[in-house]
Amino acid sequence: MEHVSAYETPHLPGLPPAGPTASPAVFPTGSPGASPGASPGGSAHPPSAGGLPALQDLDWVALAAELDEEGVALTPPLLTREECAEVRALFDEPALFRSTVTMARHRFGEGRYRYFTHPLPDLVRTLRQRLYPPLAHIATTWAERLGEAGFPHDHEGLVAACAAAGQHRPTPLLLRYGPGGYNCLHQDVYGELTFPLQVAVMLDRPDEDFTGGESVFVEQRPRAQSRPVVKRPRQGQGMVFAVRHRPVRSIRGWSRVTLRHGVSAVHSGQRHVLGVIFHDAR
Ligand SMILES: [Fe+2]
Repeated sequence: MEHVSAYETPHLPGLPPAGPTASPAVFPTGSPGASPGASPGGSAHPPSAGGLPALQDLDWVALAAELDEEGVALTPPLLTREECAEVRALFDEPALFRSTVTMARHRFGEGRYRYFTHPLPDLVRTLRQRLYPPLAHIATTWAERLGEAGFPHDHEGLVAACAAAGQHRPTPLLLRYGPGGYNCLHQDVYGELTFPLQVAVMLDRPDEDFTGGESVFVEQRPRAQSRPVVKRPRQGQGMVFAVRHRPVRSIRGWSRVTLRHGVSAVHSGQRHVLGVIFHDAR
């Protein structure tokens, strides 16, 4: 995570141009390489072990509409209570991570987060690979609106484009906040190549495992005051939101609004979130 300001998207070599005929109503729902045994094209339910059946049933048309309307979309639970506990427990296995950030040292907030190293844990890898294709469809639609280059159809393609841009390190991360923990408003940019959407999965139960700790989003609109949005996802739910900016309709077509996200102070308990960022880091 880098707490940075938005900058203009450069031309990204190696990426296909946004296709002018892409239909916003047809979403790819699976990636053939996502989980062993999953049927190519995602037409059948994947196996339950690591298959995350909830991913198969996501209504991407509704999620895309929610993103366009509000800049943030809440999914139904992606992980079961047991899967949330499984992912949360990984925080205490140092060998799984390439680095740990104590936020106060950088004045990013209060709390700690850890970046997974390769190989990513199964659940994390599956989420990253299977959420990517429909998000790439939305991302390419956004890119078309802003006159920018589109994105590869599968996550393998994005990883290859990241590698070509010198971005090799995995970015999925686990965040842990205790009482008093918070996260300053920021954007998760890790190099020249930025995939414009990310997903944060809530691993704890608000008001039971922790209090406070709301997810805060601030949209900075051109020639207007900033707009705050607060979300309180339930355990297992994912929040899909713009990493950096998104297109909004304006009288002159589409304009770019900047989004920053953060977390308000946790009052009690512990709050864990899995951050699924799709581009790799430099
Ligand atoms: Fe973030």
